[in-house]
Amino acid sequence: MCGIVAYLGKNNAIPLLIKGLKRLEYRGYDSTGIAFIDKYKKLAVIKKKGKIKNLENAIPEGLFSNIGIAHTRWATHGEPSDINAHPHTDCKGEIAVVHNGIIENFRAIRDFLVNKGHKIKTDTDTEVIAHLIEENYRGDLLEATRMALNIVEGTYGIAVISSKEPDKIIIARNGSPLAIAQNNNNYFAASDASAIIGNSESLYYMKDKEICVMSKEGLNITTLDNTPVTPEFQKIEFDLSRIEKNGFPHFMLKEIYEQPEVVMNTIRGRIDMENGDVRLNGLKNYEEWFRRDVNRIIFTACGTSWHASLIAEYLIEKLAGIPVEVEYASEFRYRNPIIDKNTAVFVVTQSGETADTLAALREAKKKGANVFGICNVVGSTIARETDAGIYVHAGPEIGVASTKAFTAQIVGALLIAVYLGRMRNLSYEEGKNIIENLLKLPAKIEGLLKEHDKIKKIAEKFKDNKNFLYLGRGFNFPIALEGALKMKEISYIHAEGYPAAEMKHGPIALIDENMPVVFIATKDSIYKKVINNIEEVKARNGNVIAIGTKGDKKLAKLANYVVYIPKTIDVLIPILTVIPLQLMAYYAAVLNGCDVDQPRNLAKSVTVE
Ligand code: AGP
Ligand code: GLU
Repeated sequence: MCGIVAYLGKNNAIPLLIKGLKRLEYRGYDSTGIAFIDKYKKLAVIKKKGKIKNLENAIPEGLFSNIGIAHTRWATHGEPSDINAHPHTDCKGEIAVVHNGIIENFRAIRDFLVNKGHKIKTDTDTEVIAHLIEENYRGDLLEATRMALNIVEGTYGIAVISSKEPDKIIIARNGSPLAIAQNNNNYFAASDASAIIGNSESLYYMKDKEICVMSKEGLNITTLDNTPVTPEFQKIEFDLSRIEKNGFPHFMLKEIYEQPEVVMNTIRGRIDMENGDVRLNGLKNYEEWFRRDVNRIIFTACGTSWHASLIAEYLIEKLAGIPVEVEYASEFRYRNPIIDKNTAVFVVTQSGETADTLAALREAKKKGANVFGICNVVGSTIARETDAGIYVHAGPEIGVASTKAFTAQIVGALLIAVYLGRMRNLSYEEGKNIIENLLKLPAKIEGLLKEHDKIKKIAEKFKDNKNFLYLGRGFNFPIALEGALKMKEISYIHAEGYPAAEMKHGPIALIDENMPVVFIATKDSIYKKVINNIEEVKARNGNVIAIGTKGDKKLAKLANYVVYIPKTIDVLIPILTVIPLQLMAYYAAVLNGCDVDQPRNLAKSVTVE
């Protein structure tokens, strides 16, 4: 998703803005731009399609300005091009705007502006904001911006500068994240903390319908209807090293290798070994409600987080005996979901900014549900709008393809399943057994990561294939979906995940020597059934790549390639089986020369519909 950076202060804004854009690159983008007030007090705008390098090459040497805004764009309206890149300006080139989000009523506004004589230069929705500010400008940039934002409908995070008032920046948000920070008369705004780290120790995440004017006098925040706001700055919880690669070639590989530590971080402080239970302080205000009233649970999410939700369904139904439904957030928000006072809704999200998931949350709350978050980014919009929830503490996930956050989400879901189960029929012994095995998991993941060479060889063998099938049953069915998503989203090889038994109802027609089939065939309660499915594929010359349980010699005889995971209890198997699939997708992508951390067309956080 797009990134916004803004700076006002004593230093040169231009290098600071470029550095901030580079910190936001991981969010995914297709074009970039910068606007600043030059030494003649004129507004200067430079913008380019493509990577930040293209923008840097277009900026003349030796420029200096104390004020500027910058943007990485992920196009929603108007193709990626130099002219459609942000910042966008008014007719006279005196007002510049960068924007994250979608202006839903931009066509009607554009028609109004054209009738008033404005010259629209681009195909984007964003440009209308600059002209609306121009149309409403009567000598006060803050008020003109406020008026414009009262007219637009949709989502925005914006930064505005103008040569008419060259010493202030207007920042405003509704639905798209924006944080502001200050340090010794230097003022910053950015889409997330990673662009602020190193410039300030704390930040304030603006809330919807808030507007801020940054000037040498400081920060002045109000609501859009002009109620003063006193910002509560929060300490930035992670340091720069957490968003550097630390010697790894890609953020994605670094994050795959962080998973042993991440599992410990998700668990930390939440184990009650004495009672074979878990402690979830984030849910404590609802503990009695969960114990006494909840008789149905809905999970809603997108993408990888939706896969984690499917695992949560299996875990909670198995351990707590509560019926669970899993819904795509994009579908849930437009259906008429049945929710009553005994329904708990969980939203699962790494970024905490996914537009569809945020909308599903708001729809559930409109229907009176108690809504709980399983989220990775502290202070994110979804984390703040849920009634309660748990943070998964995976640390900043920079690679667009989610890995460590997914693992952390599964562990979080398991903790919730034990928490709910121990309120119901899950015994002390069962709870204790799960916890003891959970605590052994980081070491098992470490051991599994040592299989990387073997996995790389498998990826090398199949990197030129055009299709993959991923098959699994039970807990491993969502892992089959996740393995397929990893493969397609970073190596651009088509891959489909299916319940293994479903193969007979269609996909088996695809099987031949050119269709590699990844089976997750671990020694669990339905192992024999998966073995039957492997036999069916082998009988049709299929190439089988199996993820199995260490010591399973039968599988080695049957499959063309096997990667073993260490033995563990059923409910923990998915946390291990996903690891080789993450690595296989990673190596296939690298071998195919793909942009692993910023795959084409993708964004780290999809903050538009
Ligand atoms: C996963 O690898 C993708 N990046 C994508 O499917 C992602 O999981 C989805 O967009 C949801 O994002 P969220 O968890 O931040 O809400
Ligand atoms: N809707 C705007 C555009 O397409 C902004 C997209 C974004 O959030 O980057 O330019």
